[in-house]
Amino acid sequence: MTTTPVGIHDLSFATTHYALDHAVLAERFGVDPDKFHLGIGQDKMSVAAADEDIVTIAAAAAKPILDRHGVDNIRTVLLATESGVDQSKSAGLYLHPLIGLPNTARVVELKQACYSGTAGLQFAAALIARDPSERVLVIATDIAKYELDSPGEPTQGAAAVAMLVSANPAILQLDPYSGLYSADVMDFWRPNYRTEAVVDGKTSVNAYQKATQEAWTDYRRRGGRDLTEFAAFCYHQPFTKMAYKAHRHLMESQSHTADAAAIDAAIRDTTFYNRTVGNSYTASVYLGLASLLDHADDLAGRPLAFISYGSGSVAEFFSGTVRPGYREHLRTEANRAAISSREPLGYDRYRELHEAQAPTDGMYHATRAETSRPFRLAEISGHKRIYEAR
Ligand code: HMG
Repeated sequence: MTTTPVGIHDLSFATTHYALDHAVLAERFGVDPDKFHLGIGQDKMSVAAADEDIVTIAAAAAKPILDRHGVDNIRTVLLATESGVDQSKSAGLYLHPLIGLPNTARVVELKQACYSGTAGLQFAAALIARDPSERVLVIATDIAKYELDSPGEPTQGAAAVAMLVSANPAILQLDPYSGLYSADVMDFWRPNYRTEAVVDGKTSVNAYQKATQEAWTDYRRRGGRDLTEFAAFCYHQPFTKMAYKAHRHLMESQSHTADAAAIDAAIRDTTFYNRTVGNSYTASVYLGLASLLDHADDLAGRPLAFISYGSGSVAEFFSGTVRPGYREHLRTEANRAAISSREPLGYDRYRELHEAQAPTDGMYHATRAETSRPFRLAEISGHKRIYEAR
């Protein structure tokens, strides 16, 4: 039986208006900046302006995909986030008027910490296997926020990745097997009454590593490739050093060579964007893919490994092969511009933005005009969020 190849046909990302340099944070924490640059592998983190949220960055990520491919046969929009703006209405529906999504598509929001973007990708692949004429828009969008002056604070960040998933994809063909591991772990969570995550950092690092190893074992049981076949490994990157740690752990658990040079060669190209954007939760592993495709030598025909981890916890180890001619479909220039055009943020304004609370009184509140990005949250009025294109 021949099956239609399914995978990522286009990928676009967006991030916020502001960036906070980790040197600023190191001064505030009274620590050596190398604790952040080398210790966790982060240089900067994206910070949302007062008029940005997961909807505005999702719209900025998705619009270039619709501009290039139109909306025909997009029958499903799956928006993955763990920093949603509404407990009931899917954030994807706010995108309708902003970017012109089709009315003939189902629009759903998915949640399982940082993992749910991968759930979206796999659900999309299954829908397309059922009907290869359909296309699915998967959007992973998050703003990571921890308590001020906590160990998690330097691992904040924000980004959205939009992917058009289709038959006969131009960028990455997914393998039909994957490995899964789910377990109830209290390593990171956010009760409904909190805007900041609660985290047990050391538990989370261990849970991530265990889940990676277990998902890999399941992947192999299901007929997956050998570890030596992969050109690179795209890990979920809460901070880039985590990818290095998890990869070393995985290789050593399988008695493979885990010298620093081999690990660096497998991971380095996936880290350039995450290093300066920070944790983007659901988007992080796909930001890693964008970084890899934009920086690595020719990957056409090469298999890639993906390790998606979401606290709580669910992990998936899956794989795919880069398509011939993929480079013509990349958005390297736009990706670099999204990062380099961020405005440097001073500590005082960062703290104000961090401490600002969304209004809850249902009255009219105009939002301070700050972002230079294509979409903004203009007001909150009558408990409704009103967005506008700039
Ligand atoms: P910390 O207290 O800053 O950790 O918290 P530390 O003191 O252990 O330092 C970190 C590293 O910096 C250490 O290296 C130090 O040695 C090194 P390691 O032992 O790890 O190799 N260091 C230095 N290196 C060079 N020069 C120096 C220097 N000083 C120290 N001068 C922690 C770190 C990750 C715990 C904290 O940032 C945190 O709690 N982060 C949030 C949780 C997190 O990111 N967990 C990751 C796994 S869970 C996950 O990925 C899911 C998640 O994305 C959520 C979701 O799924 O939705 C978080």
